[in-house]
Amino acid sequence: MVYNFQMRRKFIAGNWKLNNNRQQTAELIGKIVTLTKDVKNVDIAVAPVFTCLHAAKEAIGSSPVILAAQNVYFEEKGAFTGEIAPSMLVDAGCTAVIIGHSERRQYFGETDETVNKKIKASLKAGLTAIVCVGETLAERESDKTNDVIHAQLSGAFKDVASLEKIIVAYEPVWAIGTGRNATSQQAQDVHAFIRGLASRKYGNGAEQMRILYGGSMKASNAAELLACPDVDGGLVGGASLIAEDFCAIIRLSS
Ligand code: PGA
Repeated sequence: MVYNFQMRRKFIAGNWKLNNNRQQTAELIGKIVTLTKDVKNVDIAVAPVFTCLHAAKEAIGSSPVILAAQNVYFEEKGAFTGEIAPSMLVDAGCTAVIIGHSERRQYFGETDETVNKKIKASLKAGLTAIVCVGETLAERESDKTNDVIHAQLSGAFKDVASLEKIIVAYEPVWAIGTGRNATSQQAQDVHAFIRGLASRKYGNGAEQMRILYGGSMKASNAAELLACPDVDGGLVGGASLIAEDFCAIIRLSS
């Protein structure tokens, strides 16, 4: 297959983390919808907390904004107190889910194995899986970045048949919420490495897979990051909580 960059439409997702009640969710989405009305060639997603998914869905209305969840469980039902199944996310109006964010790996015991199970369960339910990988500062400084990414992706993609409905988010842990983003060269190097790994396993399908950058992305650094050939969008935390800032990044992608 011929390399077709056009098929990798930019994807900008707001990871709201543990922020915003229902009213704030509805207001923020209302502003995003209004501010991006004329944006045509970018996929825009928001990931509110579970309890606000319904309000978010209503606020999205008929606009093309994609509703994503921040986490999911890999079982469909049963005695798993406190968990949410992939089909329940679909029922709540989600079409995507963030899986394996470094905060979940760090604070909630997420492993490559649970990430893998969650990806498979989510794909089965028809969700797009936004799979997060990234190295810590210590790992980068000891030259282990590629090894870490390799291990995380091999674990994530175990027994995953194709890359359809898979988006990878490269989020260096040292860049998340720190104000210290990766340089465009650092991002491009890892993104190209990720695409190379994916193409070894999936062949040409890897050329269509979108790879997002995440970690202190904001309007002032987004243009440079998004200009990298293998950066297909962003997973935005802090800057996604302010409509104007988030939409500025979206505009830079269009
Ligand atoms: P940040 O978060 O943009 O606030 O660094 C990104 C993320 O954790 O997804």
